[in-house]
Amino acid sequence: MFKQASIVKLLLLFLLIFGIVKSESNLDYDEDEDSTATAPVEGEGEGEHLDARGHRPVKKKQEPFPSLRPVAPPPSGGIRYRARPTKPPVAGQKKEPVVFPDSGGCKHASEELGVLCPTGCELRTELLKQEKTVKPTIQDLTDKVKKLEQSSTTIYAFSNILDERLAKRQKQIRDNQNVISEYNREVEEHYSFIKENLDNNIPSNLKVLRGIVDILHQKLVKLDNAITSQLGECRTPCTVSCNIPVVSGKECEDIIRKGGETSEMYLVQPDPFVKPYKVYCDMTTENGGWLLIQNRQDGSVGFGRTWDSYKKGFGNIASSGGKNYCDTPGEYWLGNDKINQLTKLGPTELLIELEDWDGAKVKAQYGGFSIQGEANKYQLSVSNYRGTAGNAFLEGASQLQGENRTMTIHNSMFFSTFDRDNDGWINPDPKKQCSKEDGGGWWYNRCHSANPNGRYYWGGYYTPEMAKHGTDDGIVWMNWKGSWHSLKKISMKIRPVSQS
Ligand SMILES: *[C@@H]1O[C@H](CO)[C@@H](O)[C@H](O)[C@H]1NC(C)=O
Repeated sequence: MFKQASIVKLLLLFLLIFGIVKSESNLDYDEDEDSTATAPVEGEGEGEHLDARGHRPVKKKQEPFPSLRPVAPPPSGGIRYRARPTKPPVAGQKKEPVVFPDSGGCKHASEELGVLCPTGCELRTELLKQEKTVKPTIQDLTDKVKKLEQSSTTIYAFSNILDERLAKRQKQIRDNQNVISEYNREVEEHYSFIKENLDNNIPSNLKVLRGIVDILHQKLVKLDNAITSQLGECRTPCTVSCNIPVVSGKECEDIIRKGGETSEMYLVQPDPFVKPYKVYCDMTTENGGWLLIQNRQDGSVGFGRTWDSYKKGFGNIASSGGKNYCDTPGEYWLGNDKINQLTKLGPTELLIELEDWDGAKVKAQYGGFSIQGEANKYQLSVSNYRGTAGNAFLEGASQLQGENRTMTIHNSMFFSTFDRDNDGWINPDPKKQCSKEDGGGWWYNRCHSANPNGRYYWGGYYTPEMAKHGTDDGIVWMNWKGSWHSLKKISMKIRPVSQS
């Protein structure tokens, strides 16, 4: 009896997971994955769902024991910048203003700074011009309407009198036939007055009104055309919707030293041979100068992407939160080639900030951070942990012991995506890859203690049944919230090591 019930339960659970997998098969991170090869539910009780996951325990004797790869420590200890000057050398040079290169055309003066979308200034000018002529016309129209109203009132009064007199006349017809002619004459007079009013006054007023309506119509057509032409201009080159500051530099620390003190989108050029590109610089947290390389905050960007996508970067750098500059970072991955190049410039530190769905915040900071080039599979190297989130990269998941823990260490790992398997999970099944199961591109071992590029789960808590492969594929930092709480926000920022 009990056995039957549990089989039925298992079947239902399996169907449910199969359904979830099918309904989400449009996600691109593991399209090629066989959807039935999932559900690690066999033999597991319900209570085990909240267990620490992250690792893939060694089951068979023939599986090679996981071991860590050798990796050179990141360049650390050295400094790239001396301490920042407390006062700017020349007050006037300190901060350059935000550019508005052309108040009319709204195009950026410098080509490599990109083309700005027209900000609507032209439209505003046009509207202001139109307003000047529309206003007196409306005043005139108001006067005319008032006059018309007055004459209508007069007519109305006369028609009332007429009514009264008609009534009187009818009464008097009976009394005195003689007065008929007299009244008739009077009525005729009133009639002719009313007729005159109707024939002359009202049509002439109507004519005036018609003219005004025509003028207004023409003006509306003009305004409409102005708006259409503005929209037309916007359509094609609308790649940037806010102004980019003139101040630029190799990276964000360079920019803050040159006077860029607001946290917003900047152009950086780490070396003269690469095209400048856009990044978000955090100029406030812990003294500023941070270059955002990864950001999750609302699930607006999918992170289940290809090797090529992670190589080049993806997502939205920043947008305007109401100001005329891009002050709000978007969700993005800067790109492995760019991160590699930035860490090649010299000793670099890494700041990872995390926030859960209750608004609690912790951080993990690594005094040394570098990643290799594509030829070395973007191998990760970190050092000198400090912080409150837990040292996932160097020590693995605190919930696991021994080999299980070792296989969740990220330091020294290669980068893996669902279409490029470089993880530490050596097994004969090509379908069993960390990136396929855990949702994003990352320095997977076997597999993770931290999964910042995992799937975004609204609300935070999720279960193996909700996950595509029954694995902890959320935005996980095991050392802080375990395997089954996906973070609300996580970001990774880098900065050149400098003297404090
Ligand atoms: C590793 O994890 C598995 C199950 O997840 C467990 O059975 C095994 O005892 C663990 N090994 C160690 C050394 O903790």
